[in-house]
Amino acid sequence: MTEIVFVLAVARNGVIGAAGGLPWRLPSDLKRFREATWGRPMIMGRKTFQSIGKPLPGRESIVVTRDASFHAEGVHVARDIDEAVAIGAERAAAMGVGEVMVIGGGEIYRALLPRADRIVLTEVDIAPAGDATFPKLDDSVWREVSRSAPERGPRDEAAFTIRVLERKQ
Ligand SMILES: NC(=O)c1ccc[n+]([C@@H]2O[C@H](COP(=O)([O-])OP(=O)(O)OC[C@H]3O[C@@H](n4cnc5c(N)ncnc54)[C@H](OP(=O)(O)O)[C@@H]3O)[C@@H](O)[C@H]2O)c1
Repeated sequence: MTEIVFVLAVARNGVIGAAGGLPWRLPSDLKRFREATWGRPMIMGRKTFQSIGKPLPGRESIVVTRDASFHAEGVHVARDIDEAVAIGAERAAAMGVGEVMVIGGGEIYRALLPRADRIVLTEVDIAPAGDATFPKLDDSVWREVSRSAPERGPRDEAAFTIRVLERKQ
């Protein structure tokens, strides 16, 4: 079975996005995002794809949209969540990996949370205004398997902690 792995960064107040973009600058976390997703298929909502603006190199992008006319060069298009997961599993097998990454945004995280196996969670020590959020995780469902507080880089706007959570069996 292909594992469904979330990668996300969340502020203290649950905010993950503002006005179609990220509400902080954290170059160190973007580097970590690149490492976590490298060589893997990634499922994302159409709005997140448009905020990134292009398929990211070294990975395969699966964009979920209800818009039958949506087309973008170099991405797989899924019409619903089930199709996105099916394409993700197929592409993961083709790429020789056991994971499909889910990279947001808010709508896609909410839709796939019940099926997620693992969450690579950056907790950002900031509480910005925003319009995309992530729900508070239920401790009876999620178990922390690792935690680290990487050194804040000179261009990082806030301190952050990286936690890896796994679904309890
Ligand atoms: N902090 C983080 O880790 C992080 C990660 C990713 C994104 N973000 C931020 O989150 C924000 C975007 O999140 P969002 O919730 O507004 O949008 P989103 O989840 O990226 O995309 C929403 C779109 O996905 C499509 N969609 C959603 N559910 C679907 C379903 N069941 N079937 C088919 N299509 C479906 C729809 O596209 P159509 O309208 O085309 O039908 C919908 O408008 C941005 O600010 C972004 O920067 C933050």
